[in-house]
Amino acid sequence: MSANEKRQAGEAAIRYVENGAIVGVGTGSTVAFFIDALADLKDRIEGAVSSSEQSTAHLKRVGIPVLDLNATGALNLYVDGADECDAHKRLIKGGGAALTREKIIAEASAKFVCIIDSSKQVNLLGKFPLPIEVIPMARSLVGREIVKRGGNPVWRDGVVTDNGNWVIDVHGWQIADPAGLEKDLNQIPGIVTVGLFARRPADVVLVGDRVM
Ligand code: 5RP
Repeated sequence: MSANEKRQAGEAAIRYVENGAIVGVGTGSTVAFFIDALADLKDRIEGAVSSSEQSTAHLKRVGIPVLDLNATGALNLYVDGADECDAHKRLIKGGGAALTREKIIAEASAKFVCIIDSSKQVNLLGKFPLPIEVIPMARSLVGREIVKRGGNPVWRDGVVTDNGNWVIDVHGWQIADPAGLEKDLNQIPGIVTVGLFARRPADVVLVGDRVM
């Protein structure tokens, strides 16, 4: 993992921000560099839609207005990091437990610019345990369904998401069909969000300051 590449990626994403924009903002240490760079342009943008309480606090600290997605409507741009990224710009996300709001904003945005360091690039998704946000009472049910599918579910004990839910990290999956697995898991009652971004992958991936 390279903090320098994360900073480069966060700063490079600024070139996608247009005057007057409302920018969708993800969560994590790479996005933190983006927010710091966005602060320099704060008089040129209308505000941001935030994917987590963590990013909301950061945005407010640097003086960027945080807006409600219900009020803004669709966005032109979403900028977020990832835990893994394959050659088709399909992602694993949710290492920071913000996957649900991240997926909502990605879906609402015309362009998703993903910012990563080179350690996140993989041939096959799944070495990073797949985060799944679940309604608390469904934790065991979802765990059993994952075991049936050959995964090893590990409860992220002590973590409560911004939505009041829990996270299961699935180890041991080599994900050959990310869109198929995403669709399959989405049918299990109690799963709120699967941290696979395959049905709606990134549009642009910046690895450091380089477009993938
Ligand atoms: C949070 C995420 C993050 O984008 C992901 O965990 C990458 O974080 P970082 O930039 O700190 O490596 O999905 O839920």
